[in-house]
Amino acid sequence: MAFGKRTSAPTGAPKPAAKPQPKPAAKAAPPPPKPEPPKAEAAPEAKPVKVKPPKPAEETTLRIDDRSSQYYETKSTIFNALIDTIDLSQLAQLDPESARDEIRDIVVEIISIKNVVMSISEQEQLLDDICNDVLGYGPLEPLLARDDIADIMVNGADTTYIEVNGKIERTNIRFRDNSQLMNICQRIVSQVGRRVDESSPICDARLLDGSRVNVIAPPLAIDGPTLTIRKFKKDKLKLNDLVNFGSISPSGAEVLRIIGHSRCNVLISGGTGSGKTTLLNCLTGFIDPGERVITCEDSAELQLQQPHVVRLETRPPNIEGSGEVTMRELVKNCLRMRPERIIVGEVRGPEAFDLLQAMNTGHDGSMGTLHANSPREALSRVESMITMGGFALPARTIREMIVGSIDVVVQASRLRDGSRKIMNVTEVMGMEGDTIVLQDVMNFEIDGEDDSGSVAGKHRGTGIGRPKFWERATYYNLENDLAKALDRLEAGE
Ligand SMILES: Nc1ncnc2c1ncn2[C@@H]1O[C@H](COP(=O)(O)OP(=O)(O)O)[C@@H](O)[C@H]1O
Ligand SMILES: [Mg+2]
Repeated sequence: MAFGKRTSAPTGAPKPAAKPQPKPAAKAAPPPPKPEPPKAEAAPEAKPVKVKPPKPAEETTLRIDDRSSQYYETKSTIFNALIDTIDLSQLAQLDPESARDEIRDIVVEIISIKNVVMSISEQEQLLDDICNDVLGYGPLEPLLARDDIADIMVNGADTTYIEVNGKIERTNIRFRDNSQLMNICQRIVSQVGRRVDESSPICDARLLDGSRVNVIAPPLAIDGPTLTIRKFKKDKLKLNDLVNFGSISPSGAEVLRIIGHSRCNVLISGGTGSGKTTLLNCLTGFIDPGERVITCEDSAELQLQQPHVVRLETRPPNIEGSGEVTMRELVKNCLRMRPERIIVGEVRGPEAFDLLQAMNTGHDGSMGTLHANSPREALSRVESMITMGGFALPARTIREMIVGSIDVVVQASRLRDGSRKIMNVTEVMGMEGDTIVLQDVMNFEIDGEDDSGSVAGKHRGTGIGRPKFWERATYYNLENDLAKALDRLEAGE
């Protein structure tokens, strides 16, 4: 059998001029590419802006896997022979190194028995591939190995998208079929003691490197197992990086520093993937090393630099449906642990009440993120989380509680061009009648879109000379810094 020619770099830049890739086993043609749904992103409140209508989605495919169909045929012949020969359950007992050696010996033997012609380097790559299939995450491996990918989205065996530099792109990564994909999903979730199948088709898990995984399987996912991975970034972005990317202006970053230092209670609001957790991580950088900080997360993502940090994580129910520990239980428990600041990775439910209480009772400087499209919406989300959590409190009381505890809301957004911006730094001022009064300290003003489709705009102060957190800043001896930063912010620096 002739062996398909392969290039030596399985990952990397898209390669030109390659034949379309038929699937190894003849199967129905892949479904036509689905256009991405339009992003519902936060537009800054009020103020109409000149923005070009979105371009029609034309989809290009990133070539990550650059192998010919012959390669896949050869691989599946060898793979099938291998599966016939070895006992997979025994293999699973071995440590990865010896398992790899075991597979290697058998594959080399199969290659010689079947008289497959291939060079040593081709053989090495085939071995790697097969080991990835049997022991690792198969076709996902090249994607997992890349640090520049933020998300991996697999929609059934034939369709995989990735997010790089804020843009979602389709790749040509494919799985043999849905059952291979399902096996890989199963392997991922079983590492954290969970199971995904028809009877429990939804599952959250985590890779060993900390990446967050969600699997939803048929029959709920109609077009095949659907896997979403938020890759864990080892080197979290720093506030300086955000300034360099233009996500925030230098003086805006200085205002955030002062907010962090002077122990304001902060909510970070934004859509999925807008950079909330990243920003929260940056803000925690301003916590004094002497403070006792407790973090509560669904999946530990934050990387605090301080020595005195206790990290807590929620726990989903086990296979039998018991043993769940909710965010609310964590936050409540946290209060008995003598924290000086409480950091909640993502506020989604009734824990909002406990976080507000903590902020209100001497744990100022606490922070959390939540999913909303504007600072005002963030506060009404907090209100509805408390209402839905079964606290029988009048709306006005809840609002007073919000006003009494949250000092600043920072709004993050992922714009249409893929860039992430800090859209607003907004203060919670007080109540007027039944309404919460907000005041923007800084906004990102969108001017339009340049020819390359990038959003053009500027971070600008709103001209407030004495924000409400001025007093706090003064207490921490930061009023001069704040005055300077606000002047520069107003000048658009
Ligand atoms: N300002 C930024 N510029 C560029 N990339 C960013 C920025 N903020 C976050 N990212 C990247 O975007 C991805 C999602 O960020 P994350 O903070 O986890 O979002 P969220 O918590 O809102 O879902 C991560 O890969 C992160 O590194
Ligand atoms: Mg997050």
